[in-house]
Amino acid sequence: MILTVATTPFPDQKPGTSGLRKKVKAYQQKNYAENYIQSIFDSLEGFAGTTLVIGGDGRYFNAEVIQRAIRMAAANGFGRVLVGGGGLLSTPAASHVIRHYKAYGGLVLSASHNPGGPDGDFGIKYNIGNGGPAPEKVTDAVFARSKAITAYKTTDSADIDLNRLGDNKIEGMTVRVIDPVTDYAALMESLFDFAAIRALFASGFKMKFDGMGAITGPYATEILENRLGAPKGTVINGTPLPDFGGHHPDPNLVHAKELCDDVMLGTAYDFGAASDGDGDRNLIVGRGVYVTPSDSLAIIAANAALAPGYAGGIAGIARSMPTSCAPDRVAAKLGLKCYETPTGWKFFGNLLDAGLATVCGEESFGTGSNHVREKDGLWAVLMWLNILAATRKSVSDIVTGHWKEYGRNFYSRHDYEEIETDAANRLMDGLRGKLGALKGQSGIVTADDFAYDDPVDGSHTAKQGVRLIFGDGSRIIYRLSGTGTAGATLRVYIERYVADPARHGTETQEALADLIALSRSLPDIPGITGRQAPTVIT
Ligand code: G1P
Ligand code: ZN
Repeated sequence: MILTVATTPFPDQKPGTSGLRKKVKAYQQKNYAENYIQSIFDSLEGFAGTTLVIGGDGRYFNAEVIQRAIRMAAANGFGRVLVGGGGLLSTPAASHVIRHYKAYGGLVLSASHNPGGPDGDFGIKYNIGNGGPAPEKVTDAVFARSKAITAYKTTDSADIDLNRLGDNKIEGMTVRVIDPVTDYAALMESLFDFAAIRALFASGFKMKFDGMGAITGPYATEILENRLGAPKGTVINGTPLPDFGGHHPDPNLVHAKELCDDVMLGTAYDFGAASDGDGDRNLIVGRGVYVTPSDSLAIIAANAALAPGYAGGIAGIARSMPTSCAPDRVAAKLGLKCYETPTGWKFFGNLLDAGLATVCGEESFGTGSNHVREKDGLWAVLMWLNILAATRKSVSDIVTGHWKEYGRNFYSRHDYEEIETDAANRLMDGLRGKLGALKGQSGIVTADDFAYDDPVDGSHTAKQGVRLIFGDGSRIIYRLSGTGTAGATLRVYIERYVADPARHGTETQEALADLIALSRSLPDIPGITGRQAPTVIT
């Protein structure tokens, strides 16, 4: 039976960079998840009888909200739900499933790399029919609706058994439980030279992949170990757990330290990689080398044609504004355009749909291509494996060779986490207020607040971060995170371009030392936030 349940609005259901992320405790409030899901459905048109994809990263509360979402989809008139077995779908796999089955859209239940468990975070993200995150006009409508909602629709039906693949019925709607890995693995096999990668593993090449107790484990195990012949045990922390086994599933030098130490400092491995909570981020390391995500994007763009799925070459590159300018140099050499977008994957969707860009990425460990409309952790790992298999060079040789050819963009991001929201706003307002005065100071040639005009739909997005660009191309960028759930996080991005190979070996923080000092003193970070140093450096 379809039920209409009265509810009252929550004031705080404004989607951030990537869906509505809140503490699990917030999501556990009565009607909180239902209000948000109904607000999404109320903001969509013409979905009666169509297919909705639902899946999540397996974090705490995932199983419960999935059942609620299925009931609400039935009550709201969807014709079919495709849900991943066990309630699981990585973010890129969900994007692929939406596209592959021509679904109307999808709900991805995830808070990405944020910690999970009862005291951790939860999130719901709506993706549109192209498989990508909903654009701002949709998320704005959802927020507006959430402030006025008075009722939601659901059914009194029992939970679906998500561990049994196959069809179920609720109020005339079909609920099909699908294997979460199969379609995605087939897509990867269509893009990369699996035979060459299999030969690489057969030659004794050693890799370690850290699933971080999150969603990518089953995907990596199937693809790397079962299909590509990597030895059993290549994938560690490969079982998705509600609290990620206590890990903070963010694949960076801080949270994937063990993997980095093993691969970078030891001699047992040729290649190391990791992915995040929902499988869209990636970390790439080799013996003695950490590949920054910005460099990784540039290297992938320069070498994509080695993979069969990109053999015809790429149409263009896109990077988020804070990402280093290394990809721009590759684009210039290939005679392609490099688009600079605001932070967040949703801004790549139009460029990919219009065929203006083929590969895109962000400094925040996100890389991807037009194969789906999300960033894709395993895709990046497989692209690297394809490059390594085709060239038979080491990760380190590929990286240093790239720098030699294009120059090196030294790059680092300094995060000041959980600072007071007021202080963070004061700091940003202070910077915005003195942009005019900053120009000309300390070699700064451009001081602005980044704004973006989408070349495809003409939409304008303002206030996307303060940019200080220096005469030699160096940059310092300031922006506030849009994904945090406690206080504010200030992100400071620092970059310097060095052409001379003799100087490429310098340690990154050292190469950037003067810019780092300036990044702190210019807006008076210590004075305003009380912080002498960042909490995380990547
Ligand atoms: C962060 C990253 C951004 C990424 C987003 C979602 O957003 O910086 O590049 O798209 O997570 O994974 P932020 O917290 O900076 O708003
Ligand atoms: Zn993620």
